[in-house]
Amino acid sequence: MGNGLSAIVSIGLTFLLSQVMTKVIWANKYPDGKRKQAWPTAPSQLPYFWNAFDAFHVSYCKSFTEWSQKIGTLFSVKIGQKRVIVLNEPKLVRQTFVEMDQYNSSRTLSDTVEVIMSDNGKTVFTAPFTLYWSRLRRGINKVIGKSQYHGWMDLFHRQAEKFVNGISLNDAKVVEADQLRQLVELIALHISLHIVVGEEVDPETMLTLTQKVQKAEVWQKESWHIYSRFFPVVRQLYVAFTALLGNRSITYLRNDILEIFLTVQKDEQKGIAAALADIAPSKNDPTPEQLTKDQILVNLVHLTVHSYKYLSAALFSALQRVATSADWQNKMLDKDPEQALRYAKAFINEVLRYDGPVKMFSHAARVDYELTVDDKAYRVDEDVELVANLDAIHFDERYYAEPHQFNPDRFLGTSYVSLLDEKVPTSKGLNARDHLAFGAGRRACQGSLVAEEMLAAILLKVVQTYQLKHQGIIRTQVMSGVWSWMGRMETKGNDIEFIKRP
Ligand code: HEM
Repeated sequence: MGNGLSAIVSIGLTFLLSQVMTKVIWANKYPDGKRKQAWPTAPSQLPYFWNAFDAFHVSYCKSFTEWSQKIGTLFSVKIGQKRVIVLNEPKLVRQTFVEMDQYNSSRTLSDTVEVIMSDNGKTVFTAPFTLYWSRLRRGINKVIGKSQYHGWMDLFHRQAEKFVNGISLNDAKVVEADQLRQLVELIALHISLHIVVGEEVDPETMLTLTQKVQKAEVWQKESWHIYSRFFPVVRQLYVAFTALLGNRSITYLRNDILEIFLTVQKDEQKGIAAALADIAPSKNDPTPEQLTKDQILVNLVHLTVHSYKYLSAALFSALQRVATSADWQNKMLDKDPEQALRYAKAFINEVLRYDGPVKMFSHAARVDYELTVDDKAYRVDEDVELVANLDAIHFDERYYAEPHQFNPDRFLGTSYVSLLDEKVPTSKGLNARDHLAFGAGRRACQGSLVAEEMLAAILLKVVQTYQLKHQGIIRTQVMSGVWSWMGRMETKGNDIEFIKRP
């Protein structure tokens, strides 16, 4: 018995030692023994072990922007023990996410909330670059793709009508910022549910859903989860702890949310739910394996929450911003409806560039490889995240004239360059006609067209019904970005005076 036990212990120790040695010896080498290149330059004088943990949590994307100004637009940095490579220029995003998309179109999970909420990476947002993920995208595309998104315009107009009725029925009225935010959230959730499950959902269920999602976001802000993102040891401890004691709270919450989606779906499925229940074959996937009910359900939840959080954040910012500009309100009163819509869309695009909820997005490397920039090769390891920093990219004066001016006019031109054009010039003062608020490359947002149409339709209706007035807006970073570690930017805003137009 004693001999057996000591044999097991020594086998265990030998295994552990070999694992550690392999990690140490091979840490800087490829399997063929070739030495890896250096990482892109990193900021210096960061504290030992914690590295950029504090700086990132105080300033988020601003810390990246400051380092990019000091050490260059491509750099790597360790936040705690997590290394990321930060891209602060459109041409780097194009090179990595578009030209080298086969290398960089994957995802890794950041913390335990994301692991549980996405059922360990089963949602389109969290799944690695696999056939499973491309099946999800194919299904979604059938409902909100380029040739489908126009079908949702009626819904947007009906909701716009409801929204203006909800603001005020009579004369001048000041709507408090919090009240307006709630109204915006409800409309965004209503539209999102309609697209995702194809159903009208009663207000009580919607309220329960928003409360539960809010709870998950509050949990994700707890230190335990934050540390687990940047220190693998904390994550392992957490996993061991929950394996022993069970992670009842988050799992129960996830199940409660799934339950809501089970009950709102009718026998005859519609929207994205129907498309995911019947994945069509494609050239590269002639006999697709169909998705299970659980896989569909967890995707419906993540899609709804992503859609309503980002739509509501963007719509709220747009309303706050338009209330500061009588000029732009007047433009949207243009007698030609097409021209008025053009102005509204330009305004929305400038909001997404300047005040957008997305300040960073990331794709993960699928393999170890070398990234060559300006004739110098850098190391990129499998699963390392490449982060596009929009705080730098959207305010780069080489691509946007006077980038710190809020100016929707920049989106009205037709001959300007695109940020992801093959040959983006780098001289100062160009006018880019687009932004990267919806991401880039293979994982770019599939809801960008419906989002733009929905936001423009509601903004236009509000402005044509009311004159909006207030001064100045306040912005704040929210730690949770459903459910990723990069957070999102929200506008806190002011109370707005809505004066009914004659
Ligand atoms: C203002 C509103 C929205 C913003 C700012 C936004 C932003 C984003 C961003 C930044 C990404 C990641 C892109 C990347 O990694 O390159 C994304 C992905 C995605 N979004 Fe959105 N989104 C919005 C609305 C929507 C809506 C309304 C839907 C659907 C109803 C949607 C569905 C998706 C999907 C399916 C993905 C792809 C995930 C993947 O393949 O990894 N989004 N979105």
